[in-house]
Formats: sequence, structure tokens, C-alpha cells
Amino acid sequence: MAEQGTSIIILAGGFGTRMKSQLPKVMHKICGKEMLFHIIDESKEISDDIHIILYNQADFVQEQLAKRYSNLTIHIQDYENYPGTAGAIMQGSKNIANPKSLIPLRYNKVLVLSGDMPLVKSDKLREFIEPKCDIAMGILELEDASGYGRVIIQGDRVEEIIEEKDATCEIKKINLANAGIYCFNKALLDSALQNIESNNNQKEFYLTDVIKQAKHIIGIRAKEEVFMGVNSKVELAKAEEIMRLRILENAMKEGVIIRIPQSVYIECDVEFEGECEIENGVVLKGKSKIKNSKILSHSIVESSVIENSTIGPFSRIRPDSHVLDSNIGNFVEVKASKLNGVKAGHLSYIGDSEIDSGTNVGAGVITCNYDGISKHKTIIGKNVFIGSDSQLIAPLNIESNVIIASGSTVTNDARDGDLVISRTKQVNKGGFFYRFFARKKIKED
Ligand code: UD1
Ligand code: CA
Repeated sequence: MAEQGTSIIILAGGFGTRMKSQLPKVMHKICGKEMLFHIIDESKEISDDIHIILYNQADFVQEQLAKRYSNLTIHIQDYENYPGTAGAIMQGSKNIANPKSLIPLRYNKVLVLSGDMPLVKSDKLREFIEPKCDIAMGILELEDASGYGRVIIQGDRVEEIIEEKDATCEIKKINLANAGIYCFNKALLDSALQNIESNNNQKEFYLTDVIKQAKHIIGIRAKEEVFMGVNSKVELAKAEEIMRLRILENAMKEGVIIRIPQSVYIECDVEFEGECEIENGVVLKGKSKIKNSKILSHSIVESSVIENSTIGPFSRIRPDSHVLDSNIGNFVEVKASKLNGVKAGHLSYIGDSEIDSGTNVGAGVITCNYDGISKHKTIIGKNVFIGSDSQLIAPLNIESNVIIASGSTVTNDARDGDLVISRTKQVNKGGFFYRFFARKKIKED
């Protein structure tokens, strides 16, 4: 249940020019999930009144949000007239009487967050809601605060925030940075917005200018890895590394064995159950579930379920596969297939297939699922022996208890009990070797 009493605004309308990308900054992914979605998911833990501010590529971002969430209020910023982080939360020209008034919110406490802040967890956000004050704000103590707004503190009092672009050399030496998280009293925020002007170097309405208008401000300090803002590809990689380590640590705490963790990449929606072992170089992506299984070195699992099975080394399980009680060996690619009790030990491609228990897929077997226009299915029953280097041309239905001779090209369905063999008869020509090379030898002389 969401805790009552706090509205959350997530700022996601900016251009993110430092990201140097066509994709909006907040839609860049960290461990498989968009930065904006990370912060929305944490926000949902504490509020049922979540507002997202969009402007740059608003249609695209809104479309992506609609695919995943139903309970968000979207606002399009009046960026032409009111650019900047304070402009983002103003009603803008649609409220002709008072364009600087705060967007309508349900509760009296307002937590303002940025869409480019993917590492913050809901527990930490709760700390901002608890204190009784005008503003609770996040402060980072850094060795080098460049890029961030600097926090000016006199004694215990937060006086002001000065943006990097407006800072003198002296101010730039300050190592206290504004994290960009604030919990405001709504009435104070609404009235402070009225006094904010854009007479700074960026010609923007800064939310940070609310600070100097408030009396009782509480600074909540944290390490950079908690509040980090992502503005560039370098910071994106830095944030992803922090998230990756968190995911690995959580998995290990749940009982998963991870060999050489520095070489393993696991995305945030991957789930584990039971006894699992993950070897070096493994990549687990999307909404995958690994249950009582071993994923051996350098294998990749994407959006698939692996249960009571061994995968790899060097295998790739592509999306929408379900591998149960099976043994998938080296250099085997599986795509959108259901394997139940199957052995596929070496060098195979199994795509758009359903294969039942006791079936052995020989080395080099290929399901030819694509005819150049569409994809077709291969259905294989129980206890089928598929000889090495066979090609199964889909659509194909092989019933249970069938033997497919090695090297066959299978184009027709097979009935229970069949031997399927399609290859040219072998011919042996006695003494050919010697005749062939003797002739060659004479020519060379
Ligand atoms: C902001 C703070 C800075 C702080 C830093 C922390 C201001 C003026 N500065 O700077 O003090 O140290 O965050 O990470 O607030 N956005 C809009 N509309 C706009 C402009 C921005 O929605 O018109 C959104 C962006 O999409 C982004 C967030 O607001 O998600 C912050 O904007 P950004 O440009 O990244 O601010 P910083 O320069 O990092
Ligand atoms: Ca930022």
C-alpha cells in the first residue's frame, strides 16, 4: 500500500544535451531498465500521486510510459516561456491568471525528483518525507562537485544553491553539491515560485532559487552512489556499474553462487529461485527467471525461464524460451522454444520449437525455421533421437519415438516409431587414394 500524504513530481522534460543522443536522456537504460522507470518504480513505493514533467520528445516518452504504467499524471512543460527546473513545475501559459503557480497536486508534501537519478531507493526517499520543515533537501559531499549546483551553508543553515554555470571560481571550490532531491511544503513552494526569475546565465527558472526563500531547511547527506545524477555517457556507465554490483550482491545474498562477479552482468528484472550457480562472463537479461540451474561460462540468457537445467558454456538462450529439466551444451542457440527434458550438447540452432522429454538433439542439428518470408514451428515429441548434422525444415511435426538418421534433411512429418533417413547412398571405390596421388606425383616430377 502506498503511504498517504506525499505527491511526487519527477522532472523529465529537459534536453539532456550532454548525453549527445537522439534518445531522450531519461530513456537511457541502466541494467536493462530506463532511468526514468527506475525512479518511478521507487516512487510508487511511497506515493499514489505521481506527476511526470515532459517536454523534449514528450510524445515518445509518454508512449513508453503508457506501455508500463497506468496511474501517472503527465504534464507537458511550457518550455518556450518557462524553461528550467522551476519552470517545469509551473502551470505556464495555460494558467493565464497565474502562470507561475504550481501544477495541481493532491497532497501538502511535495517530493521533487529528477528522471536522471536512477540509483536512489525508496527507503532513502522516505527520509525526506519524515522531517517537519519547509524543505528537506539532498546534499552530496564530494571530492570534486563539478557539474552540480553548489550548496552554500552558513553554520548549520542552508543559505543558497549556486549553479555551476553561474558560479565564481571561489564558489566552484565548494565540495557540497545539490543532489536535486527536495521535499517541499506545498504552500511554501507555490508562493516561492512566484518570485523566481530567469535572470541567470542559462536564462532558466531554477528550482534551486526556492531555497533562499525558505527558513527551515534540513540537509540530508548521502554518498554520490545514492543520489548520482546522470548527464553524460560516462556517468551512465558509472551509474550502471554501481547498479550492477548492487544486483550481484542481492543475488548472492539470496544464495546464488556467482563465480568471478566482476565479469558477470545481470539486469534488474532477472529473478532467481532455489540453488543457482552463475559462472564467469555470463549475461542474464530482461525478465529472465533462473530456478535451480547452472549457467556456465560466457552464456547469455535473454527474457527466458530456465528451470532445473544446465546451460553452456558459450550458449545463447534468446527471448521467450522455456528450458526445463534440460542440458544445453556449448555453442547452442535457442530462440522462442520450449524444451522439456531435452539434451542438446553441441553446436545447434533450435528456433520456434517445442521439444519433449527424452529427446536428444545431436551435434550440429539445425531447425530451419525461416523460409525467407515467415517463421515456422518445429514440434518434436518424446524420446526422439536426432542424428548429428540434420536439418529440420519447418513447419515440421515429428511424433514421439522417432529416429532421424545423422545428416538427414527432414522436410516431411514423421509418425511414432519411424526411422527418417534422407541422404545419398555411400559409395566406396577401392584403391582410389593411391591412384589419385600417384598421378599427382607423376605430374609434379
Ligand atoms: C540540477 C540542479 C543542480 C543539481 C543537479 C543534481 C537546477 C537549476 N539545478 O542541475 O543544482 O546539482 O540537478 O543532479 O535545478 N528538466 C525539465 N525541464 C527543464 C529543465 C530540466 O524537466 O526545463 C529536468 C531534466 O529532464 C532532468 C532534471 O530536470 O531530469 C534536472 O535537469 P538537468 O538539466 O539535468 O539539471 P542539472 O544541470 O543536472
Ligand atoms: Ca542532472
